Amino acid sequence: MLRVRPRAVRQSLASYITPAARRVFSTPRPLVVLGLESSADDTCAAIVTSERKILANVVLKQHAIHESFGGIHPLHAQEAHQISMPVAISQALREAGLGVDRLDGVAFTRGPGMYGCLSVCAGAAKALAAATGKPLLGVHHMQAHALTPFLTASPVTDAPTPEFPFLTLLLSGGHTLLLLARSVSSFSILATTHDESIGASIDKVARDLQIPWALGAGSPGAALERFAFPDGLAASSSPGANLPPAPTFTQPFARRLAFSYAGLRSALTRLLESEPPAEMAEARKRQVARAFSLAAFKQIEDKVVFALEKMREEGQDPVRGLVVSGGVASNLILRERLRLRLDKAGWPDLPLIFPPPALCTDNAAMIAYVGLLRLQRGLIDPLTVMQRSKWPIDECEADFADVAPIKAKSPSAPAV
Ligand code: KG4
Ligand code: ZN
Repeated sequence: MLRVRPRAVRQSLASYITPAARRVFSTPRPLVVLGLESSADDTCAAIVTSERKILANVVLKQHAIHESFGGIHPLHAQEAHQISMPVAISQALREAGLGVDRLDGVAFTRGPGMYGCLSVCAGAAKALAAATGKPLLGVHHMQAHALTPFLTASPVTDAPTPEFPFLTLLLSGGHTLLLLARSVSSFSILATTHDESIGASIDKVARDLQIPWALGAGSPGAALERFAFPDGLAASSSPGANLPPAPTFTQPFARRLAFSYAGLRSALTRLLESEPPAEMAEARKRQVARAFSLAAFKQIEDKVVFALEKMREEGQDPVRGLVVSGGVASNLILRERLRLRLDKAGWPDLPLIFPPPALCTDNAAMIAYVGLLRLQRGLIDPLTVMQRSKWPIDECEADFADVAPIKAKSPSAPAV
């Protein structure tokens, strides 16, 4: 039975809360949610339980289609999602050993992302929800990246559970965000990019330096990391013999909470005009790739330290950790540099929390998990809900502002 809801909302929910959806709120067994993701170039389906077990996590990549375009081609991506989504869904159900009747909800990435790409997971989820009567949950992609560490926290692997309030860095192909997270649904934007994202600039640099994506198993960012730091951070400090000085990059917005990557990248473009990559010696190319990567990460480190200092000066409550997620957060050099910088700047005890690399990049397990958190609070979308290519994270649950949430039953759910 649905519980406490203002009358107006209860009436508007009546049309899409089906008998199957009502059963969810009275069931004592763990809930099971199917998540679908197709906001960019990965077609994903995953099944997650309210006990935080990932029963299936299917990711079908499209890099073979996009590499020749030097980036994601929106129409080809949409078409590939249309071909792959049914495959991903049936594979996830098979791996989990479940039929659709066992699902308690269907979650999908509602946004932000590429509109046509989002329409594929939205359409598939709506059709499944309509056919089965299961609740539909349209999830904010960046909220899902930010909350992934709650899904992956484990005493076995020592992965800590974040505690609110914490800072969140979301570093992906579309975003460069520094947020203050106060609860699972309350995020304030402290800094965002004024031009392109860190992921987009990394991808373009990998393309301009002609680094094959295969080096990073299909990801240009991972390829740039492997190429620039084949032996890790420590081994990369000595310059090769007879190399010109490494390029230097001017950082934007000194002492302001704002990111910008266009300047760094155009400095690199200018360098490549005088030293075409096709004629560059491998060692020089590596030196340039390293210098760019370290400058890109330094900007992240600077802004985090600046935000921490600013919050302290303003007498704000201290944050209890820094969560870093999104595809770029899988970069091991960035992880190491951030820890070193926090230690040096006077925050050696601040927990620095990254999801495992495979769950930093796009996946549907994070979508299913946030769908579960929503389901447990009774925050369900109508079947008429539409995808949103632009969707600010501070509005991630704004549609439910008038709904009194149902108290989460599961002890594994973070406080709301
Ligand atoms: O979160 P994500 O998988 O998709 C979006 O929501 O955009 O992030 C993709 C971005 C791409 O720019 C990709 O090249 C970058 O994350 N990326 C990396 C690494 N792995 C993926 N960037 C740097 N180092 C990596 N190891
Ligand atoms: Zn993402």
